[in-house]
Amino acid sequence: MSNTKIALITGANKGIGLETARQLAALGYEVVIGARKPAEGRAAAASIGANAHFLPIDMSNPATFSAAATWIEDKFGHLDVLVNNAGIGPDNGMKPSETPIELIRQTFDTNVFALVELTQILLPLLRESPAGRIVNLSSILGSISLNSDFDAQIGEWRSFGYNGSKAALNMFTATLAFELRDTNIKVNSAHPGWVKTDLGGEGAPLEVAEGASTSVRLATLPADGPTGGYFHNDEKLPW
Ligand SMILES: NC(=O)c1ccc[n+]([C@@H]2O[C@H](COP(=O)([O-])OP(=O)(O)OC[C@H]3O[C@@H](n4cnc5c(N)ncnc54)[C@H](OP(=O)(O)O)[C@@H]3O)[C@@H](O)[C@H]2O)c1
Repeated sequence: MSNTKIALITGANKGIGLETARQLAALGYEVVIGARKPAEGRAAAASIGANAHFLPIDMSNPATFSAAATWIEDKFGHLDVLVNNAGIGPDNGMKPSETPIELIRQTFDTNVFALVELTQILLPLLRESPAGRIVNLSSILGSISLNSDFDAQIGEWRSFGYNGSKAALNMFTATLAFELRDTNIKVNSAHPGWVKTDLGGEGAPLEVAEGASTSVRLATLPADGPTGGYFHNDEKLPW
C-alpha cells in the first residue's frame, strides 16, 4: 500500500468541487476528480497537474461507483479522503406545496441516496487509511433549526427538495459518525457559505477559493479533530 494521501472529490469538474481538488492537490494529496462528463473531468484534472486523475462518477449510475472503487483499490489500495460534493438544487425558489414530486425525488436521489451508496461502496477503502475523512457537502439550508425559525436569515430560501435533502444528508453524517466513532474515520457536514458557482449564482458573495475552505479543513482534520459535526469553517452550525 502506498503512503501517498488520496482524496476523491465528486462533482469536481467545476465549482467548489474543482477548487477543493485544487487546494488538496496543493497540500500534496493525490486527487481523484469524480465527474460525469469525461471531457470536463479530464480538463479539470489536467488543469491541476500530474497528481490529479479523472474518474467517471455519475451520481445517477451506481455502476460507476463500484468501477471507481476497483480503480482506486488497484491504483492506490486505500482512500484517505472522500468529499461528497456533487449536488443539485432544481427546486430552488419553488413552494413545497407546488414542487413536482419528480423534482423532489431527483434531488434526493442525487444529494442523498447516491451519496450514501457511493460512501458505502468506498468505506472499505477508507478503513484502510490511517486517518479517513468523509466530508459531506451540506448547506445551511439543511438546518431544521433555521428552517423552523420564520425570522432566520435564510429568508425565502425554503424549498423542500434541496433543504430536505441536505437535512437528510446531515442525518447520514450524524449516524455514520456514530457508527464509526471507534475507527480512524471522521465524518462531518460542511456548509461552504454562499458561493459564486453555477448553483450559487452570480449574486453570491464568496469566491470558490473561500467556498472550498470548509471542505479542505474537514478533509485534513487532525486526529483530535471533531466527527459527527456540521460546520462552516470552524464554526459549529445549528442542526
Ligand atoms: N454554491 C453555494 O452557494 C452552495 C451553498 C451551500 C451548499 N453548496 C453545495 O456545494 C456542493 C457543490 O456545489 P457548487 O456550488 O460547486 O455547484 P455547481 O458548480 O453546480 O457544481 C455541482 C457539481 O455537482 C455535479 N453533479 C450534479 N449532479 C451530478 C450527477 N448526477 N452525477 C455527477 N455529478 C453531478 C456537477 O456536475 P455537472 O457539471 O456534470 O452537472 C458539478 O460538478 C453541492 O453539494 C451544493 O449543494 C453550494
